[in-house]
Amino acid sequence: MSKKNDRSKRKAAMAERPAASAARLDAAPAAPRVLTRDELIAELNHDLAKEYSALIQYVQHAAVITGPQYDAIAAELTVHSNEEHQHAISLSNQIDFLGGVPAVDVAQVRVSPSSKSMLELDLEGELDAIARYRERIAQAEALREYGLRRALEDILIIEEEHARDLQSALDR
Ligand SMILES: [Fe+2]
Ligand SMILES: [Fe+2]
Repeated sequence: MSKKNDRSKRKAAMAERPAASAARLDAAPAAPRVLTRDELIAELNHDLAKEYSALIQYVQHAAVITGPQYDAIAAELTVHSNEEHQHAISLSNQIDFLGGVPAVDVAQVRVSPSSKSMLELDLEGELDAIARYRERIAQAEALREYGLRRALEDILIIEEEHARDLQSALDR
């Protein structure tokens, strides 16, 4: 592949990224698909697998991120990891309360040799989590699962903090 292609691809990716991030943080939640209880349990297990991968990803990124400009966020990534662990516990309890079995699957963990890319991958994960939990809160509400809704709201507040921490470390 030519250098020129590489450059234009990178440019296109850079142009897309901030717009996509902003759109996803500001977007009104889409009308949720109404789920059965079993479908909601399956979605929560999918969220749980992503909490496990996020906690592993933050442990790895906190250990290997380098550069004086990333000192503060490096410490913060460990805090994020602990909070993702708490989310996994909360989701597991909620799945059990709903009559499901909490899964032990781990979604894809994303690593990079570049400190900046690590933070971009972490931010993508948080924006994905924010979109998923906004949808999940509406789905819990539709099934009148108010305790679940409250637990998901508590998780969402923390994911929004995580996204803001990463955005400020990336100067966005
Ligand atoms: Fe989380
Ligand atoms: Fe998070």
